[in-house]
Amino acid sequence: MQRREFLTTSLATGAAIATYSLANKANAETAAKPTNAATPAAATVTAGAPVAATGPFVQPPLSYSLGALAPFLKEEQMNYHFNKHHAGYFKKLNTLVEGKPEAKLSLEELILQSQGPIFNNAAQAWNHTFFWNSMSPNGGSNPTGLIAEALQRDFGGIEAFKKAFGEAAINLFGSGWVWLAADKDRKLQILPLPNADNPLKHKLTPLLTLDVWEHSYYIDYRNDRAGYVAGFWSKVNWDFATHNLATMAKT
Ligand SMILES: [Fe+2]
Repeated sequence: MQRREFLTTSLATGAAIATYSLANKANAETAAKPTNAATPAAATVTAGAPVAATGPFVQPPLSYSLGALAPFLKEEQMNYHFNKHHAGYFKKLNTLVEGKPEAKLSLEELILQSQGPIFNNAAQAWNHTFFWNSMSPNGGSNPTGLIAEALQRDFGGIEAFKKAFGEAAINLFGSGWVWLAADKDRKLQILPLPNADNPLKHKLTPLLTLDVWEHSYYIDYRNDRAGYVAGFWSKVNWDFATHNLATMAKT
């Protein structure tokens, strides 16, 4: 398996903490091998299949079925989002890099080094995989341990964090992403970013994200972004955030 495929594939296997180790650039640089990629959940669901590889960048499969996040997100919503929108970014990116030096880079390298259409499509490809991992069919419980302590320290607790994150998501004008990210001192911050922008570009470590592009919720929620944002907490994957915080590059 080529390094690029390894990175994207590993990033997508989100059902077990052990498979989150390549969730950011720093970890991707240092990780030597995937750990325990096979998980009970991943083994028993028929995830959305990855698009056929027509270039160097391959959409990783979901680690859960398209309907597994219902009632928060139903199968039709997830099918369009995963198989049309997310797949479309990979398809477009492969077209854009064909025959160019960028075809040999990883998604993370493209995010850090490129601008314009290549950046937009590489970041959207990466962001969505991170988003799928930010949710879990078994998610939704309150955070514990390291992430709970950090949320208490930096936001005053989980409820205060949810309120601030939710307001940022609702108030983000147009299309974009709301991120929970950590700086080099592991201080947490909420980062609402437009379009395809993500924390890697700002030298921050992403921990969790919510897609607030309209295509992410319009089938299930129409124009009710607030309803979509509220539902996110029922499937949020705190194990993923905890792992990202615990394994981020040490300073
Ligand atoms: Fe999206």
